[in-house]
Amino acid sequence: MSDSPLLELDAVSKRFAIRGGIAGSVRGHVNAVRQVNLTVQRGEVFGLAGESGSGKSTIARMIVGLLPPDGGTLRFAGRPVVQSRAIQMVFQNPGASLNPRRSIGQSLSVALAAAGVARAARRHRIADLLGLVQLPADTALRYPHELSGGQKQRVAIARAIAVAPRLLVLDEPTSALDVSVQAKIMELLVELGRSLGLTYIFISHDLSLMRNFADRVGVLYLGEVVEIGTTEALFGRPAHPYTRTLLASIPVVSAAEARLRPDIPLIEGEVPNAADLPSGCVFHPRCPYAFAPCTDQHPAFTRAEAGQTARCHLLAGDAASVHDMTTREQPA
Ligand SMILES: Nc1ncnc2c1ncn2[C@@H]1O[C@H](COP(=O)(O)OP(=O)(O)OP(=O)(O)O)[C@@H](O)[C@H]1O
Ligand SMILES: [Mg+2]
Repeated sequence: MSDSPLLELDAVSKRFAIRGGIAGSVRGHVNAVRQVNLTVQRGEVFGLAGESGSGKSTIARMIVGLLPPDGGTLRFAGRPVVQSRAIQMVFQNPGASLNPRRSIGQSLSVALAAAGVARAARRHRIADLLGLVQLPADTALRYPHELSGGQKQRVAIARAIAVAPRLLVLDEPTSALDVSVQAKIMELLVELGRSLGLTYIFISHDLSLMRNFADRVGVLYLGEVVEIGTTEALFGRPAHPYTRTLLASIPVVSAAEARLRPDIPLIEGEVPNAADLPSGCVFHPRCPYAFAPCTDQHPAFTRAEAGQTARCHLLAGDAASVHDMTTREQPA
């Protein structure tokens, strides 16, 4: 087995036309995803975090081959990404992803047929799949409206794994569910990941969940990855001011965590309009540490620590320690 990455995104960009001018003419563009580079290793849980509108779902749709990029390349196991059984997606709303007129057994049977499982073997496989997602075998006879949100999400997971994928893209898989159900679904996913050797892209705006579940995390702001690091590095020593402000908003559970919590002002102001991006660093209008280069120079990715990089001028040059940021004098 090679240890080349399972998934590689190289300078991936996507923009959408905004229509609404006279006779539906194009009024402008939203740069939903800009120059995203990332790699995901086999067996890894890679988290994508970011506020609403930051481009998470757009990246997800490109990874599963539902949406072509406008620029850059996506490679899966060394080949260009195409829609395939090897890459499956689990959506936020499990109800909407299941056909209401099909029994659960029928929905799973359709997936198994697509995977080339012979009719005679399907009934048996359906029972296996339901067992894997910890649902009773008679769930096969039920219809989506008879199931709870958590049960429907288990079915959606069963359907995704029915085709023996290698990569699962989970787009807010638990955010439509009660908190108590969320944890159980996450535990199930972790277990399946281990037993089936799956790789995950885990999208969430819930950073507590991400901290517990992801091995590495990429933070998106306005379509751009501003920081990537191991969960430990990113949560323990966030390098980008935006990551720090995001983390400052999650509840702390221990004194040790309280000490790690960044002591910086919460960001103010609105997220800028994605159709009219700020010059220089896209975060500079809201950044408490912005200084001269930030307004007009787009920062490159700079290594903060082993396995952690961020797009921030504060890290460039010799100021390689993330802690320089907290001691740097703010311009008057
Ligand atoms: N089909 C589309 N046409 C036009 N604009 C779009 C389209 N899809 C997404 N966008 C825009 O692209 C940007 C990124 O959207 P995306 O859905 O990827 O964000 P997200 O991070 O998944 O947000 P959320 O957390 O709310 O799900 C947003 O500004 C959104 O309005
Ligand atoms: Mg989304």
